[in-house]
Amino acid sequence: MKIEHTIQGVRAALRSAKASGKSIAFVPTMGNLHAGHIHLINEAKRRADFVVCSIFVNPTQFGANEDFGSYPRTLDRDGTLLAEADCDLLFAPAATEIYSNGLNQLTSIHVSEVTEQLCGASRPGHFTGVATIVTKLLNIVSPDMALFGQKDYQQLAVIKQLVHDLFLPVNIIGIATVRDTDGLALSSRNQYMTELQRSKAPLLYQTLCNIRDALQKPDSVADEIIARAKSTLKQGGFKIDYLSVHSLDLNDFDASQPQAVVLVAAYLGKTRLIDNLVFDLQ
Ligand code: PAJ
Repeated sequence: MKIEHTIQGVRAALRSAKASGKSIAFVPTMGNLHAGHIHLINEAKRRADFVVCSIFVNPTQFGANEDFGSYPRTLDRDGTLLAEADCDLLFAPAATEIYSNGLNQLTSIHVSEVTEQLCGASRPGHFTGVATIVTKLLNIVSPDMALFGQKDYQQLAVIKQLVHDLFLPVNIIGIATVRDTDGLALSSRNQYMTELQRSKAPLLYQTLCNIRDALQKPDSVADEIIARAKSTLKQGGFKIDYLSVHSLDLNDFDASQPQAVVLVAAYLGKTRLIDNLVFDLQ
């Protein structure tokens, strides 16, 4: 696997793959790779001839009181995992390469509406940081397709919206969440938890499954089900940021549609966990 740290280097490394007609798949990450990320690489390998992964802890998507400084940076180990997964090219730029004018950018990408609720409401500016870095990375790599995890359901919706609105010539593919054996969605932030918190964490996914089961019953009342689930999570030691059920496009829940999605963000101690579950309503 080739490793490049500059935009020029990536473009040069991709030139011959593109000239020989290879299809390119791209998996952007912030590193500290786990089996969820590697699953995206495997899915990219299945779909394309040449796979590019980026590792960049993007400062502009972290709030002032968030974990940018302590976010785990494990580039050597990540490089080994990517090479084992047969990734073709790793792009690992420095912040100065990506934000050459400093972090107060002259240009940023703001997607409205879909960013105004859920994580967007509790993390102001987060999705502008995500939309801006993803647009920059897509413009550097120019892949045929880019793969994102459904674990970050709202992030995927934001990216689909910006690709649609800016006519970016890339196919955005969502990949199902990879979970630990007890149901907890894999995340680089899971390692922040103490052993006790980790033992409580599976309740998050269990609660989403219980909400699904309850909503699939005839004449169920969504508000009551959500209220009960919130109190279960609180009793289980979680501090809830949000727990709500929506239509798949993140508009209000509509029981007459074939599917819905329930999304949660909740803290165990200082660790903010997010998860979601898409399910059939019939
Ligand atoms: P990061 O949290 O490193 O995640 C990189 C990609 O891996 C995202 O598409 C995310 O949804 C996916 N992912 C994470 N955990 C997963 C799991 N358990 N199963 C399946 N996929 C999973 O998301 C980001 O980085 C950043 O916001 C980024 C898009 C790279 C922009 O900076």
